[in-house]
Amino acid sequence: MKKHPLLGEASNTERKVEQMQKRIAILTGGGDCPGINPVIRAIVRKAVRHNYHVIGIKNGWKGLIEKNVVSLDLGSVSGILVKGGTILGTSRTNPFKNKEDAEIGINNFKALEIEALIAIGGEDTLGVASKFSQQGLNIVGVPKTIDNDLSGTDRTFGFDTAVNIATEAIDRIHTTAESHHRVMVVEVMGRHSGWIGLEAGLAGGADIILIPEFPIDLDEICATIKKRHERGKTFSIVVVAEGAKFKEGTEVLQDKEKDAFGHVRLGGIGQVLCEEIQKRTWFETRVTVLGHIQRGGTPTAYDRVLGTRYGIKAMQMVLDKEFGKMASLCGTEIVSVPLEKAVGEVKTVPPELYEMAKVFFG
Ligand code: F6P
Repeated sequence: MKKHPLLGEASNTERKVEQMQKRIAILTGGGDCPGINPVIRAIVRKAVRHNYHVIGIKNGWKGLIEKNVVSLDLGSVSGILVKGGTILGTSRTNPFKNKEDAEIGINNFKALEIEALIAIGGEDTLGVASKFSQQGLNIVGVPKTIDNDLSGTDRTFGFDTAVNIATEAIDRIHTTAESHHRVMVVEVMGRHSGWIGLEAGLAGGADIILIPEFPIDLDEICATIKKRHERGKTFSIVVVAEGAKFKEGTEVLQDKEKDAFGHVRLGGIGQVLCEEIQKRTWFETRVTVLGHIQRGGTPTAYDRVLGTRYGIKAMQMVLDKEFGKMASLCGTEIVSVPLEKAVGEVKTVPPELYEMAKVFFG
């Protein structure tokens, strides 16, 4: 990636050519996830065809405040389709935490002379995008998160990869659980929604799935495990989402500190559950926390294609001047929806889906 000519060292000819071209910028914010690079690649490939020059803003909104930018050309996006993470880097910076940063962001947007910014992110990044858009900046959003908790789209990219990683882990846990006749608790991510837990639990044949949307009833789950063992099974797999909470309790946190968007760090419910299950059932119980493994590595084919479709749509939205909107999957179509629709409220697992999953409990 080259330093952007308007900011770094560049020949006069290079500068002139790029000044004549229309310009867009891309940034990636929040937690990284597999599939971001395919989005960036698709945007750049389509942008170049339309004679746009593309600027990459480094490390999310932090890069806009710091004016930390690079040039993105065909060479910069070559070979990144299979690469996890984001070539642009990311951060959880919230420019609206103080008025000054938001103003700097707006001024830098103007100084970069970009026609539009494509923001690739989840609830927080797109929340900022929506606020900047309301202040008159031309912004297009792309829905990214392994949690799949964004409203306004049927699927975020990254989710499929996370579900596949978690499913493979559950498959592997099965063989060791069976050999040792243990209860194995597998803690997955997902923040305040249970999509990863539900889908990985279903695909991995978990015996119990616990997600934030439906409080944990310890008596009920211990009874379910005991019943399963009474019918001859000597092991059980319990999938628990990090945001799940006991009927009478609150979420289990790694620490109480909040990030720039006011989020606490979830994690630890698996260990608490493990101890309670062992205490109440007398079955030997172990816990595995999948953590950031769910966010790392190469995207699945599904996420590569979804990311590519989102990138192409986002660039088309720039060409069509559809600003203040987000590319979205609606059924099998990629459409555009207002950014506010995406950040209004967290998309949670509906009761009917959880009821369906319960058929396989025990
Ligand atoms: O939003 C994605 C996510 O992976 C959540 O599932 C998880 O709670 C959080 O990010 C972890 O954030 P961090 O990378 O800051 O530890």
